[in-house]
Amino acid sequence: MPILNWLGRDDALKTATNTSYRLLEEVPELGYGDNSTENMIIQGDNLEALKALLPFYAGQIKCIYIDPPYNTGSAFEHYDDNLEHSQWLSLMYPRLELLREFLSEDGCIYISIDDDEGHYLKVICDEVFGRKNFVANIIWQKIHSLKNDAKYLSVNHDHIIVFAKNLDCVSFNLLTRTEAMNSRYKNPDNDPRGAWQSGDLVANEERKNGYFEITGPTGKVFNVPQGKHWVYTKENLLEMIADNRIWFGKDGNSFPRKKRFLSEVQEGRKGDTIWLSNEVGHNQEAKREVKIFNTDDIFETPKPERLIERVLRLSTNPNDLVLDSFLGSGTTAAVAHKMGRRYIGIEMGNHAITHCVPRLKAVIDGEQGGISKSVNWQGGGGFRFFKLGDEVFDADGCINKNISFENLSAHIWFTETKTPFNKPAEKSAYLGTCDNVSYALLYNGILRDKRVDGGNVLTNKTLNVILDDMKHIPYEKLVIYGESSRISSARLKTLHIEFKQTPYDIKAR
Ligand SMILES: C[S@@+](CC[C@H](N)C(=O)[O-])C[C@H]1O[C@@H](n2cnc3c(N)ncnc32)[C@H](O)[C@@H]1O
Repeated sequence: MPILNWLGRDDALKTATNTSYRLLEEVPELGYGDNSTENMIIQGDNLEALKALLPFYAGQIKCIYIDPPYNTGSAFEHYDDNLEHSQWLSLMYPRLELLREFLSEDGCIYISIDDDEGHYLKVICDEVFGRKNFVANIIWQKIHSLKNDAKYLSVNHDHIIVFAKNLDCVSFNLLTRTEAMNSRYKNPDNDPRGAWQSGDLVANEERKNGYFEITGPTGKVFNVPQGKHWVYTKENLLEMIADNRIWFGKDGNSFPRKKRFLSEVQEGRKGDTIWLSNEVGHNQEAKREVKIFNTDDIFETPKPERLIERVLRLSTNPNDLVLDSFLGSGTTAAVAHKMGRRYIGIEMGNHAITHCVPRLKAVIDGEQGGISKSVNWQGGGGFRFFKLGDEVFDADGCINKNISFENLSAHIWFTETKTPFNKPAEKSAYLGTCDNVSYALLYNGILRDKRVDGGNVLTNKTLNVILDDMKHIPYEKLVIYGESSRISSARLKTLHIEFKQTPYDIKAR
């Protein structure tokens, strides 16, 4: 497959792997509302924040929306959008690689971009997500009026590039039919089945059995033009005429068309790839929406709530998990919150605190801007705020002494199984079983023996506790991590146990 090359590509390919695992540190005073919520706002570089989240959320996210810097060269107050082309690609590549790891098999990623980098982005996404998983390039009409002062052409749209984690598993919800769509259905012949719209009965190309004559109600005979064919067989078409499903015009002499009844069309409408500003909002609408949360320091590049609503309608259901790692003023989090989706938002800039926090507080208090009225938003819920904390391993690969049992467990579990860690809260060295392999960790005196040579060492006593904790769990192999083992290798072999020593056998990257 052709690939894109740029200065620094080789380094960019290693960046995600080389980024160290860090802890997330909660800042309780910046969170708000229900504290048992899973909703998270994280302030920090998304490369490190994503790496920190991976052991807990790999494969769990149903929909990712990102709106990265467009690299347009315009100097915004809130972040540096003026990156060099190669630097921009090097920024995006490792982040896309990590984001892919978060998607569930039926998940999707939507990426907003304009013409500056859009086509390069498509090529690197082909490489990261697989060309076969490309869904569509959506055109969003971001400006609703013509810019007559444009130097060349008035560019009114952005792209939203959509990829599936696995195109064979993904599906898109139908959107609600609009009044305008329904009003196109009429009932000129008072059909008892209700309003209908007429549709074509003829298709291009010749087809065997697709060329025959039919007779209308006045005796007039119709056939398809040469080189075309009827879309139904003669038998089906005659049945439809008998059932008054074919319309020959008011006078009965017009070329026949099919009656498509409103009562028989699908409940919703398929999502399409041209999103007009009157349906999903435009840039000015987005700016008006965020102005109310921060009047002194206006965020320059927000997206309208209706745009994100469209994304989440198509690709999520209530309670699904949504991720935005370029959160900006917090639009994705605000919309996900109002629509009853769980969310994780990552923002590097200080506007995580000055813009996202006040906006989400207002949402929880029931603000009525953006999509609130259309989704009947009444307030409630909560979010927790985090910043990036210590690295899990120091430069020599030793475990940071501040690392909790839960964090090291999550790290080990994820590096061994590549699945997210969700061990129940009870204190046990047993972490879980994946593909018939069980894992246990002796660390931080998990077995309540704080002596250095006590609970973190595999002895007959600690082994019995582990085996007792997992007595109902069948396994083919048990991997135990600990500081050292005092059990003979012969005995370990008999019990199908592999001992791994901390920290040396833990992959720090
Ligand atoms: C175009 S704005 C997103 C706007 C957002 N969609 C909204 O509606 O407000 C891009 C955001 O990405 C943030 N950003 C850029 N690089 C980042 C990084 N490496 N980690 C986290 N955030 C980053 C910028 O600070 C900026 O707020």
